[in-house]
Parts: sequence; C-alpha cells; structure tokens
Amino acid sequence: MATLKAVRGTRDLLPPETALWNRIEAAARRVFARYNFGEIRTPIFEDTGLFARGVGEETDIVSKEMFTWEDRARAASENPQSLTLRPENTAGVVRAYIEHKLGESGQLQKLYYIGPQFRRERPQKGRYRQFWQIGAEVIGPTSSGSESPLRDAEVLEMLATLLDEMGIAGWTLELNSVGSAADRARYNDTLRAALAPVVDKMCVDCQRRAVTNPLRVLDCKVPEDQPIIATLPVIADSLDDDSKSHFAAVKAALDAAGVEYKLNPRLVRGLDYYTRTTFEFKHGGLGAQNAILGGGRYDGLSEAVGGPKAPGIGFAMGLDRLVLTLQAQEGESAPTKKLDAYVAPLGESLNAAALQLARELRRAGLSVELGDGSFRLKKSFEAADRTARKIVILGEDELASGILTVKDFATGTQTKVPRGELAEILKS
Ligand code: HAM
Repeated sequence: MATLKAVRGTRDLLPPETALWNRIEAAARRVFARYNFGEIRTPIFEDTGLFARGVGEETDIVSKEMFTWEDRARAASENPQSLTLRPENTAGVVRAYIEHKLGESGQLQKLYYIGPQFRRERPQKGRYRQFWQIGAEVIGPTSSGSESPLRDAEVLEMLATLLDEMGIAGWTLELNSVGSAADRARYNDTLRAALAPVVDKMCVDCQRRAVTNPLRVLDCKVPEDQPIIATLPVIADSLDDDSKSHFAAVKAALDAAGVEYKLNPRLVRGLDYYTRTTFEFKHGGLGAQNAILGGGRYDGLSEAVGGPKAPGIGFAMGLDRLVLTLQAQEGESAPTKKLDAYVAPLGESLNAAALQLARELRRAGLSVELGDGSFRLKKSFEAADRTARKIVILGEDELASGILTVKDFATGTQTKVPRGELAEILKS
C-alpha cells in the first residue's frame, strides 16, 4: 500500500520548531494585551457567500483559491449550502461583529486572532495551502472613533513594536491610500480609459478585469504585462480632499511616533474590501514571498456583508513567514533548551519509585525526563546528557536512604543530595 503523506501545500509542524511558533505567538499575545486587544476565535469554515461578498468575486482568492464544497442538503426541499474553508479571517470577524451586535455597545472593538487559513495557491517556500495568520481588527460605529487616522497610525505603531518584540529585524513598511469607495470608482473609470487602447496586449485575466474590476489589473503577476502596468495612472491622483487629509494625518502621526515607512503608490492589495490606508511589511530574507504581513482599512466591509456602518482597520501576519525569517536570522542550529533533570532508575523494580520522584520534581515546577530501569547506567547517562542539565540516579540505596546522587553535566561534579532539598538544588 502506498504510504499516506500530508496533502500538497500542507505540512506537519514538529518540535523543536514548534517552540519557535509558540514564542512568536506568546510575543503577539503579550503585545496585544498591552494595546487592549481581546482574542476572538471564529469557525474555520463559513458560508461561501461571506467571502464572495466580503473579499470580492474578482479577487484571485475568491475566483481561484478557495476550498469550497457543497454541504449535504438538510432536507430534500432545501438547496445544499456552499461552504468554504476560510481563506482569511477579516470577513469572519466582521460577520461575528454583526451577528453578536458588538457595535451596539458604542465601544471600539479591538479583536485579535491566531489560526490557520486555507488558499489553493501554488506551494513554494513561504507559500502554503494551509498557513497560519496572527491578525487583529479594530472596528466600531463611527461614533467610537473607528474612522480616525489615529487608529491607523496606532495599528502600524503596534506592528513595529510587535515585530521588535518577536525579534524580527530589517523589515520595511510600505504604505498607500486607495481612497474611499467614491475615489475607487473614479479611479476605476480612469483605469478603464487608460487600459482601453492596450488591454488587448494583456493576459486574458486582465482583459476580463479591465471590464469587471480594473483595479485588480494591478495584482497581475504576468511578467509580459508589467511594462504596461507601470504606465497606468496611480490612485493618489484620484483621491478627494477628505481621503488626502486622512492619509496626511496617518503619515503625520507615524512621523511623530518615529515609525519609518516608504510610500508605494501601486500597493492596492489583493482583497476588494480595502478603503483608504493600505500597507504591507516586507522582509528581504524571504525571496519571492517577501510580505510578512499586510492589511488596511475597510470602512465599507460591514455594510457589504449586510451589517451596519462599521469602519475598521486591521492586518494579518503570515506566521509561517515570521518563523522562516527568524530561522534565517538565528541560524538553524539555535541551541534547544535542556531540561532541568533526568531521573534514572537503576533497574526495573525502581520504575514506580522513579515515577513518583519525577512527579515530585515536576510538581515543584521543574522540567524532567523520566528514564527507564531497563537501561544500563551508561545508556542512561547518554540519554540524560542529550536532554537534561543534570541526572538524578535512583537505586535501591538511594531509595532507602533518601540521599540521591546528582551529576551536573556542565561541571562534571557529582553530589549527594537529600530528597527534601533536591528540587531546590536542581533549580539552582
Ligand atoms: P493577505 O495579504 O492576504 O491579507 O494575507 C496576510 C499575510 O498572510 C500575508 O502578508 C502573508 O504573510 C500571509 N499569507 C498569505 N497567503 C499565504 C500563503 N499561501 N502561505 C503563507 N502565508 C500566506 C489578509 O489576509 C487580510 N485578511 C489582512 C487584513 C486584516 N486586512 C485587514 N484586516
């Protein structure tokens, strides 16, 4: 029988690498708490319509990359429901915001999430079909201040702090504004006019986008189309005074906080819900998949999926890519932390007593590996040296006298320790 393997684009995360994942997640939770974010966990699958209406039918994500299936009809009279593994989490958070009427408190909602997302992309380094995001959303009724440029600047400042806290160095922040819905409509008209004489030289996707959603032409990755795309008008010229002053206020607040950024007038992002501020953080160490996170404002998303007006801004970091970045930075050979102790019973008759001793030490807060009485002493020492800083030997004499033999591998010294003092000695 052929051996079964993890499905293309998915992978198992194993120790010790998972320790790095946990470290990054712990840093994120710490920083989110300092900025008054609470955790939200939404379902991994949702009604397909949520993503079609929220993320946009013409986006690559919705038109090509979703894992979608028809659920069995609940009754013969009903149509089967179309379900989709979430390709991103913002639409789900906004659905939950609407469903639980979170806007009715009048307070700004600051929500973060950590979890897997699914996109049927071509797998390569840093790009998977199941990948993980750490993300956050700030959303609320206009009266809660959710539209203020200060919120944009605060989110970006938090991201700079978060990356520092995670130990990720050498990133760049790229910033743009894609304007209001009205600005976008004006820009789409401008693009349509600019594309008309050249679009027949472009790929078939662009020919379709030029009609349905010209902004998405800017997402095109086809190399032959890039010289044409480079000549297209930029969105900055289509922004009205309100959008311009909103963007100016975001930049001024970032300047005041000392957060560095680079303007990228072509950064429109591959999801349709964005309005005004959009951003990406790039990292040079990653090759082609160099976006470690992306986000922006989405003032019309709640209404697009049937909710009340609820402007918002948020981001998602690619956890897989953060891990790759840190691994490249720290080198593959980062030392794994050794346990406090290894308990070695001298003979199988001492296994039960060894379990009890290990239990005492673990309950005292020590990290302990438990050996096996079938091991010869030499094998116990080798196993202990690989995993722990000290070995505790438990033979018949030790058990009877309550005086245990402890060897410290770093110094090579061997000492006799009364059982009652063992935990303290091992901690030191
Ligand atoms: P996104 O740019 O599609 O935005 O994804 C955010 C980040 O997720 C990317 O910058 C990248 O690091 C990571 N990512 C995306 N696709 C993959 C993949 N196939 N494999 C590995 N990593 C990947 C969003 O998802 C928006 N929901 C962000 C947002 C939140 N905007 C507002 N609020």
